[in-house]
Amino acid sequence: MQNVIVTGGSRGLGLAMACALSAAGYRIIALARNSTEELVAASRAAADGGRGAIEFRACDLSDLGQIAPLVKALRADFGPLYGLINNAGLGTSGLLSTMRDQDIQRLIQLNTVSPILLSKYAVRSMMAQREGRIINIASIVASTGYGGLSVYSATKASLIGFTRSLAREVGRLGITVNAVAPGFIATEMTQELDEAQRQQIARRSALKRMPDPIDVARSIEFLLGDGGRNITGTVLTVDAGSTA
Ligand SMILES: NC(=O)c1ccc[n+]([C@@H]2O[C@H](COP(=O)([O-])OP(=O)(O)OC[C@H]3O[C@@H](n4cnc5c(N)ncnc54)[C@H](OP(=O)(O)O)[C@@H]3O)[C@@H](O)[C@H]2O)c1
Repeated sequence: MQNVIVTGGSRGLGLAMACALSAAGYRIIALARNSTEELVAASRAAADGGRGAIEFRACDLSDLGQIAPLVKALRADFGPLYGLINNAGLGTSGLLSTMRDQDIQRLIQLNTVSPILLSKYAVRSMMAQREGRIINIASIVASTGYGGLSVYSATKASLIGFTRSLAREVGRLGITVNAVAPGFIATEMTQELDEAQRQQIARRSALKRMPDPIDVARSIEFLLGDGGRNITGTVLTVDAGSTA
């Protein structure tokens, strides 16, 4: 079974990825600080279904010193790594002029530095196998801009630059690196959006709706599979046409 790490796999988009990818036959290693009932149920369903698997490891990915030993332990427990989905993230909003320096630092640490370090250690396993897939979850706000999300947008735009250059660096070793940029999706991260804002997002999109977590999960499944063999260094937008 091919091993795929999904950070932030306990809820929201990451949980949808864990469910869809385990059903597609991968062994998902879901990382988050805490597990959830939904993840436990998904793990049981994968085990009962006999196709794919979901394992959970608790970790705080903003504790950067823990990342190297964590990847080492995962390799020892599960074997070579095929995929890494850098999905865990914070969505802290705030006007830059009044945001606490500590919150700015926390955002950059979890959304930017942690995926870079995880990629660094996971890619070593992929290099040894001469195959692998890294997918970074960015956001449409990296390119559109959104008031109150300047620091968040900076972290997501940085992941896109990282994606393109790393794709160039490791391509000759058979490793692809892509980003997926979702539009607004109903999860805990976006619970602050009120009904009027949700309706406005849907109304302004080409398809007149918001995407669902499963839409992002399916795009990841595609990039991990044979369909993604010759796709690297790109950003796949999943936003129901919000930016069309
Ligand atoms: N929802 C959207 O509209 C949207 C749009 C564009 C992009 N995105 C991006 O998509 C990704 C997933 O978003 P989501 O909406 O699914 O968010 P979410 O529902 O808030 O889930 C975040 C996940 O990250 C984990 N996480 C948070 N802090 C962590 C830490 N320090 N260490 C380890 N895990 C941590 C959470 O688990 P614990 O809290 O238990 O650690 C949870 O599993 C994020 O990168 C987000 O920026 C979301």
